[in-house]
Amino acid sequence: MSRTFRIAPSILSADFARLGEEVTSVISAGADIVHFDVMDNHYVPNLTVGPLVCNAIRPLTKAMIDVHLMVKPVDRIVGDFAKAGADIISFHPEASEHVDRTIGLIREHGCKAGLVFNPATSLNWLDHVIDKLDLVLIMSVNPGFGGQSFIPSALAKLTEARRRIEASGREVMLEVDGGIKVDNIAAAARAGADTFVAGSAIFGSGDYRGTIAAMRAELRVLG
Ligand code: DX5
Ligand code: ZN
Repeated sequence: MSRTFRIAPSILSADFARLGEEVTSVISAGADIVHFDVMDNHYVPNLTVGPLVCNAIRPLTKAMIDVHLMVKPVDRIVGDFAKAGADIISFHPEASEHVDRTIGLIREHGCKAGLVFNPATSLNWLDHVIDKLDLVLIMSVNPGFGGQSFIPSALAKLTEARRRIEASGREVMLEVDGGIKVDNIAAAARAGADTFVAGSAIFGSGDYRGTIAAMRAELRVLG
């Protein structure tokens, strides 16, 4: 079966003083999606950017903006990101009081909805909501920082998530986030991922085009 693979650079590792240029550079270097990490110094111990910055980069690209909310509470900020041009809004189930309601809220705003699983979070959260999701995101690091090492147990979790997606019969993207590099992207794809977040591996490389091409070459044999 042929799968579409997508590469989603995380702006967390971009040069924030030149964020607009960084976004246009990675997209013209062959990336598919802009992964936009939102941290609140409450749900995770780090603080990044909000809807204003999403709105500022929106006109720079037609690529999907994939907003990864690491914030608590979730619902209050959903509408602001939808207005700021987010295409996908994903959140952590532990950060929402009412997971089904939050998914509904994201979809009512015309965005695709994603649920994010920390390394210790059970996939059982999918049991009653997979029919309403557009994306499942498996964290292969604990959320909060770029540049951490891939946690190998994410591979088995990706395989289980893939199994659940296939069983649902729906088109649901399966994204992996954390420690993805040229040398482990194929393993993540083999385990079931189709969308690959990479922050430090791309923005830290100095050669965005070369790194994205090397990632695609790893995926080509599997496609
Ligand atoms: C971590 C973020 C990731 C992070 C990935 O909380 O969700 O998107 O930026 O960075 P790397 O690819 O460097 O692990
Ligand atoms: Zn992320």
